Amino acid sequence: MIARNTLEALAQRPLSFLSSSWPWRSLGYLLSSAAMGACVAGLGGLLYLLWDVLGPLAVVVLLAVAVVVAWGVSRYELWRLRLVMTVPSADADEQPARPLWSRLKERLRAAGGAREIGYGLLALLVLWWTDLGITLVSLGIPLFLMSAPFQPTASFAVGWAGVLTGMVLLPIAAYPIAAWAGVRAAMAIAVLDPRDSELTQVMESRARLVDAFEVERRRIERDLHDGAQQRLVTLSMKLGLAELDLPPDSLAAQQVREARSQAKQALKELRELIHNIHPQVLTDRGLEPAVQDIAGRSVVPVEVDIVLPERLFAQVESTAYFVVCEALANVAKHSKATRAWVRGRLGDGKLVVEIRDDGVGGADTEAGTGLIGITDRLAVLNGRMFLYSPVGGPTVLRVEIPCNH
Ligand SMILES: Nc1ncnc2c1ncn2[C@@H]1O[C@H](COP(=O)(O)OP(=O)(O)OP(=O)(O)O)[C@@H](O)[C@H]1O
Ligand SMILES: [Mg+2]
Repeated sequence: MIARNTLEALAQRPLSFLSSSWPWRSLGYLLSSAAMGACVAGLGGLLYLLWDVLGPLAVVVLLAVAVVVAWGVSRYELWRLRLVMTVPSADADEQPARPLWSRLKERLRAAGGAREIGYGLLALLVLWWTDLGITLVSLGIPLFLMSAPFQPTASFAVGWAGVLTGMVLLPIAAYPIAAWAGVRAAMAIAVLDPRDSELTQVMESRARLVDAFEVERRRIERDLHDGAQQRLVTLSMKLGLAELDLPPDSLAAQQVREARSQAKQALKELRELIHNIHPQVLTDRGLEPAVQDIAGRSVVPVEVDIVLPERLFAQVESTAYFVVCEALANVAKHSKATRAWVRGRLGDGKLVVEIRDDGVGGADTEAGTGLIGITDRLAVLNGRMFLYSPVGGPTVLRVEIPCNH
């Protein structure tokens, strides 16, 4: 399982969890609460200074300042969420949660509300010292035990028993720290973005419709291949023959030449169309080369990183291919991106493909037929689509397709 936040990381096998960056990120997250403690100390100092000048009125001034500070604290809470969350990614463990927090920030700005100030006050009054307290207790016990040999009263045996116990307890301390960091982050999101906290999961069952669509798609592909394409080839050949029978400099020869070049162009476009419906390279060589092929044609530079240990079921491959085609078409049409990335991995019996761009964001499943088409196709295979696309960018489209069909 690829963890996207601290709580998911906790569910991993102990070795994976402990060797990942999550315990450290959680620790950093909780320690960064010290900044709120500094704010509280600052407010206390301010009260002390103002009291001499203003007397009891200083409390009113302090409350006004505290409201502004609480607002700032809410923003800080959002900013530091990146420490304990990532953008869903095929295997990127280290990606910061920029889309999420920038989206949250946007909402915070738009909401301008009491909830944020209330949460900021709560953080100032209670949460920061709870964070530091839990960290202190979790780390303090093993570290204290490990310092046993340096304590003058401890015998040699007791000292080393302390070190050993401390060394066993130290990794265990990562669990309460990560668990509390996860709960704190979930709490911040629940308060600051109660509607849809993490991902917009778009998953609808349109299986019947898509089945019909799939049948129709195959028919069109076959008709184009066997019908229109063959006719164009014949037409082009016949025009070539007709051209040979005409005097080379005559007007008729020139027109036939033109007609032939147009027939060739139409044939080229038709081949491309058929290729896009189901490219030969996908059938012959699989997903990675097929995606490399479309990435190579994209106007926006695309980096492809697909690593699959084996060929997948044809339907899974063609669905993933369709997703990448549509996503890259969207990148070219709408994103104004300068770069895009496609990543693909197989894990947990699922193919995970992620298409990311550094463009302007704002993708909306309701605004066209492409993204909805992706969910339709995924529905047939019990797959899921996740979309992150805050206004201002970037856009991340992630699909998960079960492979055990
Ligand atoms: N990568 C992206 N960056 C920015 N905006 C996007 C991106 N992808 C999609 N969008 C926005 O989301 C809308 C919906 O995309 P969708 O693919 O469903 O429709 P479309 O591309 O407009 O039309 P169609 O795919 O049906 O030809 C787009 O109109 C566009 O405004
Ligand atoms: Mg589209």
